Amino acid sequence: IRQLVKQRRPRGFPPGPSPIPVIGNIMSLATEPHVFMKKQSEIHGQIFSLDLGGYSAVVLNGYDAIRECLYHQGDVFSDRPSLPLFMKMTKMGGLLNAKFGNGWIEHRQLASNSFRYFGSFQKPLDQKILEECMFFVDAIDEHKGKPFNPKHLVTNAVSNITNLIIFGERFTYDNCDFQHMIEIFSENVELAVSGWAFLYNAFPWIKYLPFGKHQKLFRNAAKVYNFLEQIIRRFSEGRVRNFPRHYIDDYLNKLDKSAGDLGTPYSRENLIYSVGELIIAGTETTTNTLRWAMLYMALYPNIQEKVHKELDSVLGSGKSPSLADKKRMPYVEAVLHEVLRFCNIVPLGIFRATTQDTLVSGYNIPKGTMVITNLYSVHFDKKYWCDPGTFSPHRFLDSNGNFVRREAFLPFSLGKRHCLGEHLARMEMFLFFTTMLQRFHLQFPPGTVPSLTPKLGMTLQPLPYSICAVRRQQ
Ligand code: HEM
Repeated sequence: IRQLVKQRRPRGFPPGPSPIPVIGNIMSLATEPHVFMKKQSEIHGQIFSLDLGGYSAVVLNGYDAIRECLYHQGDVFSDRPSLPLFMKMTKMGGLLNAKFGNGWIEHRQLASNSFRYFGSFQKPLDQKILEECMFFVDAIDEHKGKPFNPKHLVTNAVSNITNLIIFGERFTYDNCDFQHMIEIFSENVELAVSGWAFLYNAFPWIKYLPFGKHQKLFRNAAKVYNFLEQIIRRFSEGRVRNFPRHYIDDYLNKLDKSAGDLGTPYSRENLIYSVGELIIAGTETTTNTLRWAMLYMALYPNIQEKVHKELDSVLGSGKSPSLADKKRMPYVEAVLHEVLRFCNIVPLGIFRATTQDTLVSGYNIPKGTMVITNLYSVHFDKKYWCDPGTFSPHRFLDSNGNFVRREAFLPFSLGKRHCLGEHLARMEMFLFFTTMLQRFHLQFPPGTVPSLTPKLGMTLQPLPYSICAVRRQQ
Protein backbone atom coordinates (compact mmCIF):
# COMPACT_ATOMS: atom_id res chain seq x y z
CA ILE A 1 0.00 0.00 0.00
CA ARG A 2 2.85 2.37 0.78
CA GLN A 3 4.01 1.90 -2.80
CA LEU A 4 0.53 2.72 -4.12
CA VAL A 5 0.17 5.83 -1.97
CA LYS A 6 3.57 7.20 -2.95
CA GLN A 7 2.69 6.96 -6.60
CA ARG A 8 0.03 9.63 -6.60
CA ARG A 9 -0.18 11.51 -9.87
CA PRO A 10 3.39 12.03 -11.11
CA ARG A 11 4.00 14.53 -13.93
CA GLY A 12 2.19 13.43 -17.10
CA PHE A 13 -0.27 11.18 -15.21
CA PRO A 14 -3.71 10.96 -16.90
CA PRO A 15 -6.19 13.62 -15.73
CA GLY A 16 -9.50 12.79 -14.04
CA PRO A 17 -12.57 14.11 -12.23
CA SER A 18 -11.96 16.36 -9.21
CA PRO A 19 -11.64 14.36 -6.03
CA ILE A 20 -13.37 15.11 -2.73
CA PRO A 21 -10.81 15.57 0.09
CA VAL A 22 -9.78 12.30 1.79
CA ILE A 23 -12.15 9.91 0.00
CA GLY A 24 -11.35 11.11 -3.53
CA ASN A 25 -13.78 9.72 -6.13
CA ILE A 26 -14.92 6.66 -4.16
CA MET A 27 -18.47 7.94 -3.71
CA SER A 28 -18.96 8.20 -7.49
CA LEU A 29 -18.50 4.44 -7.75
CA ALA A 30 -21.48 3.64 -5.54
CA THR A 31 -24.15 3.14 -8.19
CA GLU A 32 -23.01 1.98 -11.64
CA PRO A 33 -19.22 2.44 -11.73
CA HIS A 34 -18.84 1.20 -15.32
CA VAL A 35 -21.43 3.72 -16.56
CA PHE A 36 -19.87 6.53 -14.49
CA MET A 37 -16.43 5.71 -15.92
CA LYS A 38 -17.67 5.67 -19.52
CA LYS A 39 -19.26 9.10 -19.00
CA GLN A 40 -16.04 10.44 -17.46
CA SER A 41 -14.09 9.17 -20.47
CA GLU A 42 -16.23 11.41 -22.66
CA ILE A 43 -14.93 14.37 -20.61
CA HIS A 44 -11.34 13.41 -19.76
CA GLY A 45 -10.46 11.04 -22.62
CA GLN A 46 -10.24 7.24 -23.07
CA ILE A 47 -7.46 7.03 -20.51
CA PHE A 48 -8.15 8.92 -17.30
CA SER A 49 -7.47 8.53 -13.60
CA LEU A 50 -9.46 8.28 -10.38
CA ASP A 51 -8.44 9.10 -6.85
CA LEU A 52 -9.53 6.18 -4.72
CA GLY A 53 -8.91 7.82 -1.38
CA GLY A 54 -5.18 8.43 -1.42
CA TYR A 55 -4.08 6.13 -4.21
CA SER A 56 -4.73 6.55 -7.91
CA ALA A 57 -6.13 4.17 -10.48
CA VAL A 58 -5.97 4.54 -14.24
CA VAL A 59 -9.17 3.69 -16.12
CA LEU A 60 -8.98 2.41 -19.71
CA ASN A 61 -12.06 3.01 -21.86
CA GLY A 62 -13.03 2.04 -25.40
CA TYR A 63 -11.57 -0.66 -27.62
CA ASP A 64 -8.58 1.35 -28.90
CA ALA A 65 -7.18 2.20 -25.45
CA ILE A 66 -7.74 -1.31 -24.10
CA ARG A 67 -6.11 -2.96 -27.10
CA GLU A 68 -3.19 -0.51 -26.92
CA CYS A 69 -2.46 -1.40 -23.29
CA LEU A 70 -3.55 -5.01 -22.80
CA TYR A 71 -2.40 -6.29 -26.17
CA HIS A 72 0.37 -4.04 -27.49
CA GLN A 73 1.90 -3.59 -24.03
CA GLY A 74 0.91 -7.05 -22.83
CA ASP A 75 3.84 -7.55 -20.44
CA VAL A 76 3.36 -4.15 -18.81
CA PHE A 77 -0.36 -4.42 -18.05
CA SER A 78 -0.40 -7.97 -16.67
CA ASP A 79 0.01 -7.57 -12.94
CA ARG A 80 -2.66 -7.42 -10.23
CA PRO A 81 -2.68 -4.48 -7.78
CA SER A 82 -1.42 -5.21 -4.26
CA LEU A 83 -4.57 -3.82 -2.65
CA PRO A 84 -5.02 -4.46 1.07
CA LEU A 85 -8.21 -6.42 0.38
CA PHE A 86 -6.54 -8.79 -2.08
CA MET A 87 -3.50 -9.10 0.19
CA LYS A 88 -5.79 -10.13 3.01
CA MET A 89 -7.79 -12.55 0.88
CA THR A 90 -5.09 -14.42 -1.04
CA LYS A 91 -1.78 -12.79 -0.11
CA MET A 92 -1.42 -12.13 -3.87
CA GLY A 93 -0.87 -15.88 -4.40
CA GLY A 94 -3.16 -18.47 -6.01
CA LEU A 95 -3.93 -17.87 -9.68
CA LEU A 96 -6.47 -15.19 -10.51
CA ASN A 97 -5.09 -12.64 -8.10
CA ALA A 98 -1.45 -13.70 -8.25
CA LYS A 99 1.30 -11.19 -8.90
CA PHE A 100 2.71 -11.41 -12.45
CA GLY A 101 5.70 -13.72 -12.27
CA ASN A 102 6.73 -17.30 -11.81
CA GLY A 103 4.01 -18.23 -9.28
CA TRP A 104 1.28 -17.00 -11.62
CA ILE A 105 2.83 -18.72 -14.67
CA GLU A 106 3.08 -22.06 -12.83
CA HIS A 107 -0.46 -21.88 -11.46
CA ARG A 108 -1.97 -20.80 -14.78
CA GLN A 109 -0.16 -23.55 -16.64
CA LEU A 110 -1.16 -26.23 -14.14
CA ALA A 111 -4.81 -25.19 -14.27
CA SER A 112 -4.78 -24.94 -18.02
CA ASN A 113 -3.23 -28.42 -18.42
CA SER A 114 -5.66 -29.86 -15.89
CA PHE A 115 -8.61 -28.38 -17.73
CA ARG A 116 -7.45 -29.97 -20.95
CA TYR A 117 -6.47 -33.32 -19.44
CA PHE A 118 -9.15 -33.92 -16.79
CA GLY A 119 -11.79 -32.27 -18.92
CA SER A 120 -11.38 -35.11 -21.38
CA PHE A 121 -10.28 -37.81 -18.91
CA GLN A 122 -12.11 -41.06 -19.77
CA LYS A 123 -14.69 -39.25 -21.93
CA PRO A 124 -14.68 -36.13 -24.18
CA LEU A 125 -15.59 -33.00 -22.26
CA ASP A 126 -18.56 -32.09 -24.43
CA GLN A 127 -20.11 -35.47 -23.63
CA LYS A 128 -19.70 -34.85 -19.91
CA ILE A 129 -21.25 -31.41 -20.26
CA LEU A 130 -24.15 -32.96 -22.18
CA GLU A 131 -24.75 -35.40 -19.34
CA GLU A 132 -25.03 -32.44 -16.96
CA CYS A 133 -27.34 -30.72 -19.46
CA MET A 134 -29.68 -33.71 -19.16
CA PHE A 135 -29.77 -33.47 -15.35
CA PHE A 136 -30.41 -29.77 -15.83
CA VAL A 137 -33.35 -30.00 -18.24
CA ASP A 138 -34.90 -32.86 -16.24
CA ALA A 139 -34.74 -30.68 -13.11
CA ILE A 140 -36.39 -27.82 -15.02
CA ASP A 141 -39.07 -30.23 -16.18
CA GLU A 142 -39.98 -30.94 -12.57
CA HIS A 143 -41.49 -27.44 -12.42
CA LYS A 144 -43.99 -28.59 -15.07
CA GLY A 145 -44.16 -25.21 -16.80
CA LYS A 146 -44.98 -23.38 -13.54
CA PRO A 147 -43.00 -20.24 -12.56
CA PHE A 148 -39.64 -20.80 -10.86
CA ASN A 149 -36.45 -18.85 -10.19
CA PRO A 150 -33.74 -20.57 -12.23
CA LYS A 151 -30.78 -19.12 -10.31
CA HIS A 152 -29.92 -22.09 -8.09
CA LEU A 153 -30.47 -24.70 -10.72
CA VAL A 154 -28.26 -22.93 -13.26
CA THR A 155 -25.58 -22.36 -10.61
CA ASN A 156 -25.57 -26.01 -9.59
CA ALA A 157 -25.47 -27.32 -13.14
CA VAL A 158 -22.73 -24.94 -14.26
CA SER A 159 -20.54 -25.42 -11.18
CA ASN A 160 -20.65 -29.17 -11.76
CA ILE A 161 -18.53 -28.80 -14.89
CA THR A 162 -15.65 -27.25 -12.93
CA ASN A 163 -16.32 -29.75 -10.13
CA LEU A 164 -15.67 -32.60 -12.58
CA ILE A 165 -12.25 -31.16 -13.38
CA ILE A 166 -11.28 -30.08 -9.87
CA PHE A 167 -12.75 -32.93 -7.80
CA GLY A 168 -13.37 -35.59 -10.46
CA GLU A 169 -17.10 -35.74 -9.78
CA ARG A 170 -20.34 -33.80 -9.93
CA PHE A 171 -22.36 -32.85 -6.85
CA THR A 172 -26.07 -33.58 -6.72
CA TYR A 173 -28.43 -30.62 -6.85
CA ASP A 174 -29.39 -31.15 -3.21
CA ASN A 175 -25.84 -30.77 -1.83
CA CYS A 176 -26.60 -27.91 0.57
CA ASP A 177 -23.05 -27.47 1.93
CA PHE A 178 -21.55 -26.86 -1.48
CA GLN A 179 -24.41 -24.57 -2.46
CA HIS A 180 -24.03 -22.54 0.69
CA MET A 181 -20.32 -22.10 0.01
CA ILE A 182 -21.02 -20.87 -3.56
CA GLU A 183 -23.69 -18.53 -2.22
CA ILE A 184 -21.46 -16.75 0.28
CA PHE A 185 -18.54 -16.78 -2.13
CA SER A 186 -20.65 -15.03 -4.76
CA GLU A 187 -21.81 -12.58 -2.12
CA ASN A 188 -18.12 -11.71 -1.76
CA VAL A 189 -17.79 -11.17 -5.51
CA GLU A 190 -20.49 -8.56 -5.05
CA LEU A 191 -18.94 -7.02 -1.92
CA ALA A 192 -15.46 -6.86 -3.45
CA VAL A 193 -16.41 -3.72 -5.39
CA SER A 194 -18.70 -2.15 -2.79
CA GLY A 195 -17.90 1.27 -1.34
CA TRP A 196 -16.72 -0.47 1.83
CA ALA A 197 -14.17 -2.51 -0.10
CA PHE A 198 -12.75 0.66 -1.70
CA LEU A 199 -12.69 2.31 1.72
CA TYR A 200 -10.86 -0.65 3.21
CA ASN A 201 -8.26 -0.46 0.42
CA ALA A 202 -7.73 3.24 1.11
CA PHE A 203 -7.91 3.02 4.91
CA PRO A 204 -7.07 -0.54 6.02
CA TRP A 205 -7.40 0.49 9.66
CA ILE A 206 -11.20 0.35 9.23
CA LYS A 207 -10.80 -3.36 9.88
CA TYR A 208 -10.95 -2.32 13.54
CA LEU A 209 -14.45 -0.90 13.07
CA PRO A 210 -16.93 -3.47 14.35
CA PHE A 211 -19.41 -2.66 11.53
CA GLY A 212 -19.24 -2.29 7.75
CA LYS A 213 -19.66 -4.62 4.81
CA HIS A 214 -15.94 -5.40 4.76
CA GLN A 215 -16.45 -7.37 7.99
CA LYS A 216 -19.02 -9.54 6.25
CA LEU A 217 -16.54 -10.05 3.43
CA PHE A 218 -13.89 -11.31 5.85
CA ARG A 219 -16.34 -13.60 7.65
CA ASN A 220 -17.54 -15.09 4.37
CA ALA A 221 -13.98 -15.62 3.16
CA ALA A 222 -13.03 -17.45 6.35
CA LYS A 223 -16.02 -19.80 5.97
CA VAL A 224 -15.29 -20.44 2.30
CA TYR A 225 -11.61 -21.27 2.89
CA ASN A 226 -12.55 -23.52 5.78
CA PHE A 227 -15.01 -25.43 3.61
CA LEU A 228 -12.53 -25.68 0.73
CA GLU A 229 -9.80 -26.98 3.01
CA GLN A 230 -12.05 -29.78 4.21
CA ILE A 231 -13.31 -30.74 0.81
CA ILE A 232 -9.78 -30.71 -0.66
CA ARG A 233 -8.66 -33.03 2.12
CA ARG A 234 -11.57 -35.37 1.43
CA PHE A 235 -10.93 -35.56 -2.31
CA SER A 236 -7.20 -36.08 -1.92
CA GLU A 237 -7.75 -39.28 0.08
CA GLY A 238 -6.51 -42.33 -1.81
CA ARG A 239 -4.18 -40.32 -4.02
CA VAL A 240 -1.64 -42.44 -5.89
CA ARG A 241 1.45 -40.57 -7.01
CA ASN A 242 1.72 -40.16 -10.76
CA PHE A 243 -1.87 -41.29 -11.31
CA PRO A 244 -3.74 -38.04 -10.75
CA ARG A 245 -7.53 -38.30 -10.85
CA HIS A 246 -8.28 -34.60 -10.89
CA TYR A 247 -6.82 -31.09 -10.49
CA ILE A 248 -6.28 -31.54 -6.73
CA ASP A 249 -4.19 -34.70 -7.18
CA ASP A 250 -2.22 -32.96 -9.89
CA TYR A 251 -1.52 -29.98 -7.64
CA LEU A 252 -0.53 -32.15 -4.69
CA ASN A 253 1.87 -34.11 -6.91
CA LYS A 254 3.51 -30.83 -7.91
CA LEU A 255 3.66 -29.84 -4.26
CA ASP A 256 5.34 -33.13 -3.33
CA LYS A 257 7.85 -32.81 -6.15
CA SER A 258 8.80 -29.30 -5.08
CA ALA A 259 9.29 -30.26 -1.41
CA GLY A 260 12.52 -28.71 -0.17
CA ASP A 261 12.60 -26.09 -2.92
CA LEU A 262 12.40 -22.83 -1.00
CA GLY A 263 11.30 -20.75 -3.99
CA THR A 264 8.37 -22.95 -4.98
CA PRO A 265 5.04 -21.20 -5.46
CA TYR A 266 3.14 -24.42 -4.67
CA SER A 267 1.65 -24.59 -1.20
CA ARG A 268 -1.46 -25.92 0.57
CA GLU A 269 -2.61 -22.34 0.94
CA ASN A 270 -2.20 -21.53 -2.74
CA LEU A 271 -4.07 -24.74 -3.58
CA ILE A 272 -7.05 -23.54 -1.55
CA TYR A 273 -6.95 -20.09 -3.18
CA SER A 274 -6.67 -21.54 -6.69
CA VAL A 275 -9.51 -24.01 -6.16
CA GLY A 276 -11.71 -21.21 -4.82
CA GLU A 277 -10.83 -18.94 -7.72
CA LEU A 278 -11.47 -21.59 -10.34
CA ILE A 279 -14.83 -22.50 -8.81
CA ILE A 280 -16.09 -18.95 -8.52
CA ALA A 281 -14.58 -17.61 -11.78
CA GLY A 282 -16.11 -20.52 -13.64
CA THR A 283 -19.50 -20.54 -11.95
CA GLU A 284 -20.53 -16.96 -11.36
CA THR A 285 -19.79 -15.77 -14.91
CA THR A 286 -21.25 -18.63 -16.95
CA THR A 287 -24.30 -18.82 -14.67
CA ASN A 288 -24.99 -15.11 -15.08
CA THR A 289 -24.66 -15.35 -18.84
CA LEU A 290 -27.19 -18.18 -19.01
CA ARG A 291 -29.58 -16.39 -16.63
CA TRP A 292 -29.45 -13.26 -18.81
CA ALA A 293 -29.91 -15.39 -21.94
CA MET A 294 -33.07 -16.99 -20.47
CA LEU A 295 -34.39 -13.57 -19.50
CA TYR A 296 -33.84 -12.09 -22.96
CA MET A 297 -35.39 -15.11 -24.69
CA ALA A 298 -38.59 -14.65 -22.71
CA LEU A 299 -38.47 -10.88 -23.28
CA TYR A 300 -38.06 -11.20 -27.07
CA PRO A 301 -40.25 -14.10 -28.23
CA ASN A 302 -39.43 -13.33 -31.89
CA ILE A 303 -35.72 -13.93 -31.20
CA GLN A 304 -36.55 -17.08 -29.26
CA GLU A 305 -38.64 -18.30 -32.18
CA LYS A 306 -35.68 -17.91 -34.55
CA VAL A 307 -33.52 -19.90 -32.12
CA HIS A 308 -36.17 -22.64 -32.02
CA LYS A 309 -36.37 -22.71 -35.82
CA GLU A 310 -32.61 -23.07 -36.15
CA LEU A 311 -32.48 -25.81 -33.51
CA ASP A 312 -35.32 -27.73 -35.19
CA SER A 313 -33.83 -27.46 -38.64
CA VAL A 314 -30.35 -28.58 -37.56
CA LEU A 315 -31.27 -31.19 -34.95
CA GLY A 316 -34.73 -32.37 -35.95
CA SER A 317 -36.74 -33.52 -32.98
CA GLY A 318 -34.74 -36.35 -31.47
CA LYS A 319 -31.03 -35.58 -31.70
CA SER A 320 -29.26 -33.87 -28.78
CA PRO A 321 -27.10 -30.90 -29.69
CA SER A 322 -23.34 -31.46 -29.87
CA LEU A 323 -20.38 -29.18 -30.37
CA ALA A 324 -20.16 -30.29 -33.97
CA ASP A 325 -23.50 -28.56 -34.60
CA LYS A 326 -22.16 -25.19 -33.54
CA LYS A 327 -21.01 -24.08 -36.97
CA ARG A 328 -24.42 -24.86 -38.40
CA MET A 329 -26.12 -22.64 -35.80
CA PRO A 330 -25.01 -19.09 -36.60
CA TYR A 331 -28.13 -17.57 -35.09
CA VAL A 332 -27.61 -19.27 -31.71
CA GLU A 333 -24.00 -18.10 -31.78
CA ALA A 334 -25.14 -14.58 -32.57
CA VAL A 335 -27.62 -14.60 -29.67
CA LEU A 336 -25.03 -15.82 -27.16
CA HIS A 337 -22.51 -13.23 -28.37
CA GLU A 338 -25.08 -10.47 -28.11
CA VAL A 339 -25.93 -11.54 -24.54
CA LEU A 340 -22.23 -11.33 -23.64
CA ARG A 341 -21.88 -7.92 -25.31
CA PHE A 342 -25.07 -6.36 -24.06
CA CYS A 343 -25.12 -7.76 -20.51
CA ASN A 344 -21.44 -7.16 -19.67
CA ILE A 345 -20.97 -10.03 -17.25
CA VAL A 346 -17.64 -8.69 -15.92
CA PRO A 347 -18.08 -4.97 -16.68
CA LEU A 348 -14.74 -3.78 -15.30
CA GLY A 349 -12.77 -6.98 -15.91
CA ILE A 350 -10.50 -7.92 -13.02
CA PHE A 351 -8.30 -5.10 -11.76
CA ARG A 352 -4.87 -5.03 -13.31
CA ALA A 353 -1.62 -3.24 -12.42
CA THR A 354 1.49 -2.19 -14.32
CA THR A 355 4.70 -4.20 -13.98
CA GLN A 356 6.94 -1.24 -14.92
CA ASP A 357 6.84 2.48 -15.69
CA THR A 358 5.26 3.07 -19.06
CA LEU A 359 4.09 5.67 -21.56
CA VAL A 360 0.67 5.36 -23.23
CA SER A 361 -0.86 7.99 -25.52
CA GLY A 362 1.57 10.55 -24.07
CA TYR A 363 0.67 9.73 -20.44
CA ASN A 364 3.14 8.52 -17.83
CA ILE A 365 1.92 5.55 -15.83
CA PRO A 366 4.30 4.37 -13.09
CA LYS A 367 5.03 0.79 -12.08
CA GLY A 368 2.48 -0.66 -9.66
CA THR A 369 -0.42 1.60 -10.74
CA MET A 370 -3.83 -0.01 -10.46
CA VAL A 371 -5.53 -0.25 -13.88
CA ILE A 372 -9.27 -0.68 -14.42
CA THR A 373 -10.33 -2.08 -17.80
CA ASN A 374 -13.82 -0.82 -18.60
CA LEU A 375 -14.96 -3.74 -20.78
CA TYR A 376 -18.49 -2.34 -20.79
CA SER A 377 -17.18 0.75 -22.63
CA VAL A 378 -15.71 -1.55 -25.31
CA HIS A 379 -19.10 -3.17 -25.91
CA PHE A 380 -20.84 0.19 -26.06
CA ASP A 381 -18.07 1.90 -28.07
CA LYS A 382 -19.87 3.91 -30.77
CA LYS A 383 -16.81 3.75 -33.03
CA TYR A 384 -17.30 -0.01 -33.35
CA TRP A 385 -20.98 -0.65 -32.66
CA CYS A 386 -23.99 0.88 -34.29
CA ASP A 387 -26.79 1.65 -31.84
CA PRO A 388 -25.04 -0.23 -28.97
CA GLY A 389 -27.95 0.27 -26.55
CA THR A 390 -30.19 -2.06 -28.57
CA PHE A 391 -30.21 -5.84 -28.04
CA SER A 392 -29.74 -7.16 -31.56
CA PRO A 393 -28.15 -10.54 -32.39
CA HIS A 394 -28.14 -9.50 -36.05
CA ARG A 395 -25.02 -7.42 -35.53
CA PHE A 396 -23.12 -10.74 -35.41
CA LEU A 397 -24.54 -11.96 -38.76
CA ASP A 398 -23.71 -11.02 -42.35
CA SER A 399 -26.35 -10.53 -45.03
CA ASN A 400 -26.37 -14.28 -45.76
CA GLY A 401 -26.98 -15.14 -42.13
CA ASN A 402 -23.40 -16.34 -41.49
CA PHE A 403 -21.84 -15.66 -38.11
CA VAL A 404 -19.25 -12.85 -38.14
CA ARG A 405 -16.66 -12.19 -35.45
CA ARG A 406 -16.46 -8.62 -34.26
CA GLU A 407 -13.22 -7.05 -33.13
CA ALA A 408 -14.50 -4.89 -30.27
CA PHE A 409 -15.90 -7.89 -28.41
CA LEU A 410 -13.94 -8.56 -25.22
CA PRO A 411 -16.13 -10.27 -22.61
CA PHE A 412 -13.13 -12.46 -21.71
CA SER A 413 -10.71 -9.51 -21.76
CA LEU A 414 -7.42 -9.50 -23.68
CA GLY A 415 -3.70 -10.08 -23.29
CA LYS A 416 -1.68 -12.29 -20.96
CA ARG A 417 -4.29 -12.39 -18.18
CA HIS A 418 -7.27 -12.98 -20.45
CA CYS A 419 -9.83 -15.45 -19.15
CA LEU A 420 -8.36 -18.91 -18.69
CA GLY A 421 -11.77 -20.56 -19.01
CA GLU A 422 -12.97 -18.98 -22.26
CA HIS A 423 -12.96 -22.20 -24.24
CA LEU A 424 -14.75 -24.11 -21.50
CA ALA A 425 -17.27 -21.30 -20.96
CA ARG A 426 -18.11 -21.19 -24.68
CA MET A 427 -18.74 -24.95 -24.72
CA GLU A 428 -20.92 -24.79 -21.61
CA MET A 429 -22.99 -21.84 -22.81
CA PHE A 430 -23.64 -23.41 -26.19
CA LEU A 431 -24.60 -26.85 -24.86
CA PHE A 432 -26.71 -25.67 -21.89
CA PHE A 433 -28.51 -23.06 -23.99
CA THR A 434 -29.29 -25.32 -26.95
CA THR A 435 -30.33 -28.31 -24.81
CA MET A 436 -32.66 -26.09 -22.79
CA LEU A 437 -34.24 -24.35 -25.78
CA GLN A 438 -34.62 -27.53 -27.75
CA ARG A 439 -36.90 -28.82 -25.02
CA PHE A 440 -38.59 -25.66 -23.68
CA HIS A 441 -40.32 -22.48 -24.61
CA LEU A 442 -39.41 -19.78 -22.07
CA GLN A 443 -41.99 -17.22 -21.01
CA PHE A 444 -42.68 -14.94 -18.07
CA PRO A 445 -45.62 -15.75 -15.79
CA PRO A 446 -48.72 -14.01 -17.26
CA GLY A 447 -48.78 -10.29 -16.56
CA THR A 448 -45.18 -10.02 -15.31
CA VAL A 449 -42.06 -8.54 -16.88
CA PRO A 450 -38.95 -8.70 -14.67
CA SER A 451 -36.59 -5.80 -14.18
CA LEU A 452 -33.65 -5.62 -16.57
CA THR A 453 -31.59 -3.58 -14.12
CA PRO A 454 -28.52 -5.57 -13.13
CA LYS A 455 -27.46 -6.30 -9.59
CA LEU A 456 -24.07 -4.65 -9.11
CA GLY A 457 -20.84 -6.35 -8.19
CA MET A 458 -17.66 -7.56 -9.89
CA THR A 459 -20.11 -9.37 -12.16
CA LEU A 460 -23.48 -8.14 -13.37
CA GLN A 461 -26.37 -10.53 -12.79
CA PRO A 462 -30.11 -10.16 -13.26
CA LEU A 463 -32.18 -9.51 -10.16
CA PRO A 464 -34.03 -12.69 -9.13
CA TYR A 465 -36.88 -13.41 -11.55
CA SER A 466 -39.46 -16.11 -12.17
CA ILE A 467 -39.85 -17.83 -15.49
CA CYS A 468 -41.98 -20.63 -16.96
CA ALA A 469 -40.27 -23.32 -19.02
CA VAL A 470 -43.05 -24.91 -21.05
CA ARG A 471 -42.29 -28.15 -22.87
CA ARG A 472 -42.34 -27.67 -26.64
CA GLN A 473 -44.31 -29.79 -29.08
CA GLN A 474 -41.82 -30.93 -31.66
C1 HEM B 1 -10.29 -14.09 -15.82
C2 HEM B 1 -14.58 -13.34 -18.00
C3 HEM B 1 -15.67 -18.06 -17.50
C4 HEM B 1 -11.48 -18.76 -15.16
C5 HEM B 1 -11.37 -13.50 -16.45
C6 HEM B 1 -11.44 -12.09 -16.78
C7 HEM B 1 -12.64 -11.89 -17.40
C8 HEM B 1 -13.33 -13.16 -17.47
C9 HEM B 1 -13.18 -10.57 -17.94
C10 HEM B 1 -10.42 -11.03 -16.43
C11 HEM B 1 -9.20 -11.09 -17.27
C12 HEM B 1 -8.31 -9.90 -17.01
O1 HEM B 1 -7.58 -9.85 -16.03
O2 HEM B 1 -8.37 -8.95 -17.81
C13 HEM B 1 -15.26 -14.55 -18.04
C14 HEM B 1 -16.58 -14.74 -18.61
C15 HEM B 1 -16.89 -16.08 -18.48
C16 HEM B 1 -15.76 -16.71 -17.82
C17 HEM B 1 -17.43 -13.64 -19.23
C18 HEM B 1 -18.12 -16.84 -18.87
C19 HEM B 1 -19.06 -16.43 -19.68
C20 HEM B 1 -14.62 -18.66 -16.87
C21 HEM B 1 -14.52 -20.07 -16.59
C22 HEM B 1 -13.34 -20.26 -15.91
C23 HEM B 1 -12.70 -18.97 -15.78
C24 HEM B 1 -15.54 -21.13 -16.99
C25 HEM B 1 -12.73 -21.52 -15.38
C26 HEM B 1 -13.28 -22.42 -14.75
C27 HEM B 1 -10.81 -17.55 -15.13
C28 HEM B 1 -9.53 -17.35 -14.49
C29 HEM B 1 -9.17 -16.01 -14.68
C30 HEM B 1 -10.27 -15.41 -15.43
C31 HEM B 1 -8.71 -18.40 -13.73
C32 HEM B 1 -7.91 -15.30 -14.20
C33 HEM B 1 -6.82 -15.41 -15.24
C34 HEM B 1 -5.49 -14.84 -14.79
O3 HEM B 1 -5.42 -14.02 -13.89
O4 HEM B 1 -4.47 -15.26 -15.38
N1 HEM B 1 -12.53 -14.13 -16.88
N2 HEM B 1 -14.81 -15.75 -17.56
N3 HEM B 1 -13.50 -18.02 -16.37
N4 HEM B 1 -11.22 -16.37 -15.70
FE1 HEM B 1 -12.95 -16.09 -16.73
